[in-house]
Amino acid sequence: MTVRYSAPGRVNLIGEHTDYNLGFALPIALPQRTSVVFDSDTSDVLEVSSALGDGPVRVPLATKPGEVADWAGYVAGVVWALRCAGHAVPGGTMSITSDVEVGSGLSSSAALECAVLGALLTSAGIELDRIEQARIAQRAENEYVGAPTGLLDQLASLFGEPGQAMLIDFRDVTVQSVPFAPESSGTALLLIDSRARHAHAGGEYAARRASCERAAAALGVASLREVSTASALQAVKDPVDARRARHIVTENQRVLECVAAMAASDFTAAGALWTASHESMRDDFEITTPHLDLIAASAVQAGAFGARMTGGGFGGCVIALVPEERVDDVTDAVLRAVRDAGYQEPLVTRTHAGGGAGLGDSA
Ligand code: GLA
Repeated sequence: MTVRYSAPGRVNLIGEHTDYNLGFALPIALPQRTSVVFDSDTSDVLEVSSALGDGPVRVPLATKPGEVADWAGYVAGVVWALRCAGHAVPGGTMSITSDVEVGSGLSSSAALECAVLGALLTSAGIELDRIEQARIAQRAENEYVGAPTGLLDQLASLFGEPGQAMLIDFRDVTVQSVPFAPESSGTALLLIDSRARHAHAGGEYAARRASCERAAAALGVASLREVSTASALQAVKDPVDARRARHIVTENQRVLECVAAMAASDFTAAGALWTASHESMRDDFEITTPHLDLIAASAVQAGAFGARMTGGGFGGCVIALVPEERVDDVTDAVLRAVRDAGYQEPLVTRTHAGGGAGLGDSA
């Protein structure tokens, strides 16, 4: 039996690095997807080919962390995590295609994990709820690939719906649909790919996570979600940890305010929250770069309601909410600023909320 399964990348509208602090985030799934075609057989090997690699990679079903690297490590990680959870995984041949750009902060890794997981589960006739699927995909990434990421990307890829953002509460692990169709109010969502690439297996992401954990421990709380006002952070003596924690506490608040602004179709207010989020990531959490700061600032200067880096940081994409009549001005201003500063030309596109993981190649 041939199974076709696909899963999207995501853009996080607001709520960065809040996931592993058990806070709130507000992602959308992207129209861009990773697709898997899987033919199972009775062997104990997966033979996986992808346009990302030179030739097929053999993944033994008994694979262990550390054995398979690069993009195929995510596939092997899903096999490993599924088996750890007690599920029988079939062997076979798998081919992967994707239009989710790798390393651009759009969660190409979660799209790959969720597409592979869906194909394997469908083929084996196993039904797992989407929260459980997200946890298995996250375990693949944390323990097989070695990137200490949270649950945001997998939940966004699995729960995405056209025209809807998802309000995720990571303490209760609940996902609530929030209508997001700014185009119906004359507002465009621009995705500005800086083309500067990032990786989260590196030390900066883990260092931010450790700072947050130390701050929570200093306050005697299980997670920074328990802290509702930035003034409570005076008890965190380390100034760097205190600043990192302030980003988390204020960002959780901004997510909830952004949901309220969107419910009122107030994109001026939502945009201002995005800009404040970018500034918090720049000054308190220190995960932006001068390149991304320039893109976000020049978008706002040219008339965007607001702009912010999206994703884990240190590269990738900026998103901007832009009144329809300013889209050309904003695009030109960003391209000009980036060119004048000597950076690579960014890719500016309009985007919207797409559907989540499922059978077939499209949402
Ligand atoms: C990466 C991680 C997510 C999340 C974001 C930041 O995308 O994979 O778990 O922490 O960074 O919000």
